[in-house]
This record gives sequence, C-alpha cells and structure tokens, in this order.
Amino acid sequence: MSSGPILEMKGVSMSYGQRTLFKDFTLDLHRNEIIGISGESGSGKSTLLRIAVDLVTPTEGEIVFQGKDVKDWNPQELRKCIILVPQEASMFPGTVRDNLLWGLKIHDQDASDEELEAIMEEVNLSGEYLDRVAENLSGGEKQRIAIARALLLEPCGLLLDEPTSALDEKSTLAVEKTVKGLLESRDIGVLVVTHNREQAERFTDRVIEVTTGEEVYYNAD
Ligand SMILES: Nc1ncnc2c1ncn2[C@@H]1O[C@H](COP(=O)(O)OP(=O)(O)O)[C@@H](O)[C@H]1O
Ligand SMILES: [Mg+2]
Repeated sequence: MSSGPILEMKGVSMSYGQRTLFKDFTLDLHRNEIIGISGESGSGKSTLLRIAVDLVTPTEGEIVFQGKDVKDWNPQELRKCIILVPQEASMFPGTVRDNLLWGLKIHDQDASDEELEAIMEEVNLSGEYLDRVAENLSGGEKQRIAIARALLLEPCGLLLDEPTSALDEKSTLAVEKTVKGLLESRDIGVLVVTHNREQAERFTDRVIEVTTGEEVYYNAD
C-alpha cells in the first residue's frame, strides 16, 4: 500500500463571484491522521470538503486523490473511496438496516446482517439498533449511523463536516471515540471541520485554518 498522502489539495482558491473564500490552500492528508479544519461561520469550510470530493470545482488549484487528479477519477468510484458525511446526518424513512443498505445499493452492493452488526460494533452501537426507525434516533446515534453507512463502502478517507456541532457533550465524546477507534482498526485518514478548540485539542493531530491555510497552534494551558 502506498505510504504517500491519500488526499492532496494544492494551491486551492475558491471564489463565488467577487467574493474570495480562501486562496492558495494546501493540505496533505495521510492515513492514520485526523486533521481539523477551523474557521468562522461562512468562511468556506463546507465548501472545502465539497471541493475535496469533486462536488465543487475550485477557482484555482489541484486536488489529487491517491496520486491521481480527482478529475481523472470516475466520480462514483471516487466518492466510494473518500466519503463526505454532511453536517446534518440525514436519515431516510425506514430502519437503521434500510439506511445502512441504502449507501451500498447506490454502488450495487449488499451486506449480510452479520456484516451490518460488525459495522454497528465499530461505531459502538449494538446490533439491536438495526431494527429501529432511523429517524427516531438521537443526533449522536444518527451521526454514528452516517459514519457506519460510509464505512460499509470501505473508504480510505472520511470527511466529517461539524459532526458534533449539534450534540451534547456525552454524544460528542461518543462520536469522537468512534472516529478515534476507526483510525486504529482501519487505515484511514480523516478531515474534520470543527470550531471547538477543546475538541480540536483532544481529537485532532493538527488544525488548519481555512481562510489563511495556516496551521493553528493551541497553547496547552
Ligand atoms: N453555490 C454557491 N454560490 C454562491 N455562494 C455560495 C455557494 N455555496 C456557498 N456559498 C457561500 O460561500 C460561503 C461559505 O460557505 P460554507 O462553505 O458553507 O462556509 P462554512 O462551512 O465555513 O460555514 C457562504 O457565504 C456561502 O453563502
Ligand atoms: Mg459549514
């Protein structure tokens, strides 16, 4: 397996009309690391993640995934290997099982109940959840189901857009524990949007500010 970065963003600039969100943003994401993206509301953090999976084309710059420009990837294949979990982890009508299988169906794949239970265990939820109505789950549970749905596709990159911004502290810690565990059990890299400094300190390896492209250092005290 290649030891190079899974995702490279090189000199990426993004403008909407006259408004420049960020300029010359550069980042390398490796396996087994969690990089935080910080920035004020409206600064372009979500846009940056959408650019990374080629849902939005930047004004300038290059996005290379596993050594190949994203424009040269088959879009379906790309979005199986690097998955964006949006801020609102949307659940569809039906059970958790239906929701997990939905992600696979898009890619003409299926999974047994045993496989689904194993994935649930990875996100620290019991197999009993498979028969529950997904829309009735708590925010933290939905977020973990959205992550489980992504994991079934065996990605090597996960992009989490403010995964805990709507959650209480207990659920926040549960989601963080789940994602940390994934880095040990799977060879993946994670980009996570957070503007919570305490979360960034305990959860990420380093944080990059979207507007400046600078690494943000936090004093331990
Ligand atoms: N398709 C679009 N056309 C024009 N402006 C957009 C579009 N998408 C996002 N924006 C603007 O870009 C800015 C950054 O949005 P976003 O990436 O969602 O910021 P953040 O996630 O940091 O809050 C916002 O002001 C938003 O209104
Ligand atoms: Mg956003």
